[in-house]
Amino acid sequence: MDAAAPRPKENMGEPLPRVDARLKVTGQAHYPADLPIANIAYGALATSSIAKGKVTKLRLDDARAVPGLLDIVTYGDMDKVDKPKFGNSGATSIGPLHDRTIFHDGQIVALAVAETFEAAEEAARLIRAEYEEEKPTATFDSPGTATIPAAGKSPLFKEDVKAGDFDAAYADAAVKIDQRYSTPTQHHNPIELFSTTAFWEGDQLTVHEPSQNVTGWKVELARQLKIDPAKVRIVSPFIGGAFGSKGPMTPRTAIVAVAAKRLGRPVRCVTSRMQAFGTQTYRAETRHRIRIGAGKDGRITAFAHEGWEVTSRPDPYVVGGTSATGRMYDYGSVLTHVSLVQADRNTPGYMRSPPETPYVYALENAMDEMAVALGMDPVEFRRINEPKTEPIGKKPFSSRSLIQCYEQAAEAFGWAKRDPKIGAMRDGDWLVGMGCATAIYPTAVAPCAARVRLTVDGDVRLQCGSHEIGTGVRTVAGQMASERLGVSIDRISVEMGDSSLPPAPVSGGSISTASVCSAVLKACDAIRTKLYAAATAEGGPLAGSRNEEFELVGGKIVAKSGASAKVEDVLKAMQVGAIEEYAEFAPKGATPGALKKLYAGTPEFHGGEQDEDSVKYAFGAEFVEVRINRYTREIRVPRIVGAFAAGRIMNTRTARSQLMGGMIWGIGQALHEATEIDRRYARYVNRDLQDYLVPVNADIKDLQVILVPEVDHAVNPAGVKGLGELGNVGTAAAVASAVYHATGKRIRDLPIRIEQLLV
Ligand code: MOS
Repeated sequence: MDAAAPRPKENMGEPLPRVDARLKVTGQAHYPADLPIANIAYGALATSSIAKGKVTKLRLDDARAVPGLLDIVTYGDMDKVDKPKFGNSGATSIGPLHDRTIFHDGQIVALAVAETFEAAEEAARLIRAEYEEEKPTATFDSPGTATIPAAGKSPLFKEDVKAGDFDAAYADAAVKIDQRYSTPTQHHNPIELFSTTAFWEGDQLTVHEPSQNVTGWKVELARQLKIDPAKVRIVSPFIGGAFGSKGPMTPRTAIVAVAAKRLGRPVRCVTSRMQAFGTQTYRAETRHRIRIGAGKDGRITAFAHEGWEVTSRPDPYVVGGTSATGRMYDYGSVLTHVSLVQADRNTPGYMRSPPETPYVYALENAMDEMAVALGMDPVEFRRINEPKTEPIGKKPFSSRSLIQCYEQAAEAFGWAKRDPKIGAMRDGDWLVGMGCATAIYPTAVAPCAARVRLTVDGDVRLQCGSHEIGTGVRTVAGQMASERLGVSIDRISVEMGDSSLPPAPVSGGSISTASVCSAVLKACDAIRTKLYAAATAEGGPLAGSRNEEFELVGGKIVAKSGASAKVEDVLKAMQVGAIEEYAEFAPKGATPGALKKLYAGTPEFHGGEQDEDSVKYAFGAEFVEVRINRYTREIRVPRIVGAFAAGRIMNTRTARSQLMGGMIWGIGQALHEATEIDRRYARYVNRDLQDYLVPVNADIKDLQVILVPEVDHAVNPAGVKGLGELGNVGTAAAVASAVYHATGKRIRDLPIRIEQLLV
């Protein structure tokens, strides 16, 4: 065992290497834009150079003169296709070629298709648009924004949670803070670029595109193209980084499909990194005002969280993280309000822990400020305010191991050695600071289907239309089948990432492991039941063991009494070559139409704060050491420890990897990431990996992930809480608290950069 493969503790699975690791590292895993396809034509996007107005004229002559040009898809060519819809399957309602209105900078105005990639690029660049230009509104504080309450305006945000009388409690509080925080625009930059490859065989359309939601896209693309969803297949076996960016389908997909139809040839369009900033989704900038009131004993009596988020003009995208921040501690009274600020921007979208990352950043900063105001240790402050029930609906937590996480992380980090005095810890020219923060992520689960086949030769094939976005879902699904069927993992093949497979929900919201494993569990148990019925039938090898508990181990059915039979022999006696089961899992509380919605690509999510019996969250605690050079103010993070409890851990290797990645991203959010916007043109400026900063190896030193054992049977049959998004929640606040501890400067606006520490 090494750090990458932590020894499993209670309720944790073995750190099996990923079943697809070899394919990935040897280049045999075909990412959608890599797949060799005969007779392919290449598409390149032409995009707008203004953010608001109308395209009055499009000059195509120069583009058409490029040798090898085959076609240009532009205004008028999408008239027979329905406009995209904004929602979980669609990134935006903007149909860029449906009318000539420009809603944001970098909006698609045409797709040039040519024999070669180079010719397509050249042609796209030669397309000249003329505009009737209006002055755009870029972001917060720009003239022309419209601010509206989020509640009721967006299907994504139900209500502003509240409890008790905040105003009275705050007025009476002995110690209080009232502070404002902000997080910047952040753009997805997965190493695998965004792409669409489409081809038609008669009336059957196949699209190869990196996707976190093949079923949702199949249905949404069919709707736009006005064809039967059965005629559309989305294929996405490997995805090179997603984190929400490949969750909803963008308008490009239908445009490329139309181009392929017109040409009668496969068309592939790979979006340039620069174009992705305007044609894909991103994390919008947010602002927060937090007020906390407490007694001198440190007990919080009043908590108010107001949030503001930028969105596009047409689409009310909202994250609204107050649902989680309002339930985090035992506040006494809670007041929240979320507002949307509409600007001339492309529609934002999901980015890893969409609500929690910015909102918990604000909350945990405020908690640290409050601890300072109370003269209290920040860990102790959280312990004092640990709730018995969540403050909004007064429901119990299905499980909550936050304090265990704090204890284990604090111990490993050496928190006891911290001198709480500001600026007191030094090492030569370096100011040392230590900070901590809470991580939280709602535990949700959705309906999911899976097909499992066990053959007489002892091989298993598992099929499920989920998505390998880097999480290792093939591996953990295979592990679940291995455990239930007593077949070793190398005899199990796992097929995913194809809409022709049994449908799975969107691989978002950290629901995949729980949802997929629950469906696999159900399919495997159906196989077990058949096997056992046959084995214990009259004249069967285990006829004497009927009604006993049993296990499947090493290709054998083993009854509790010790009697056993080979699975192979049972199948032979049954006169079958295989048992195959198709299982549909629906979570507790699912509506009667839940499975229908799964097939329609709009699965219901259950869990989080929605269930009647309890609220369901995963928790963690992160501790960070920063070092700041006393002369240059260079900021380093030499050490970070995170402890997380997330129910059953299927595989300690993949779990650690997810949490580690989250923490690294959190450091990036704290110190590196920000999309700069030119307010004059509402345009993103740093649209490449040279100027859009992310952490690299040299930025990450000692990083430790502690998996805290937790058993929770209430969340779902698999007992799994999601953890894909948990790790990066709270990290930035822990860094900000450590920076304060080192310097006495409270940086409330991310990212924290040298210049903020110089003044
Ligand atoms: Mo995640 S941002 O829900 O893919």
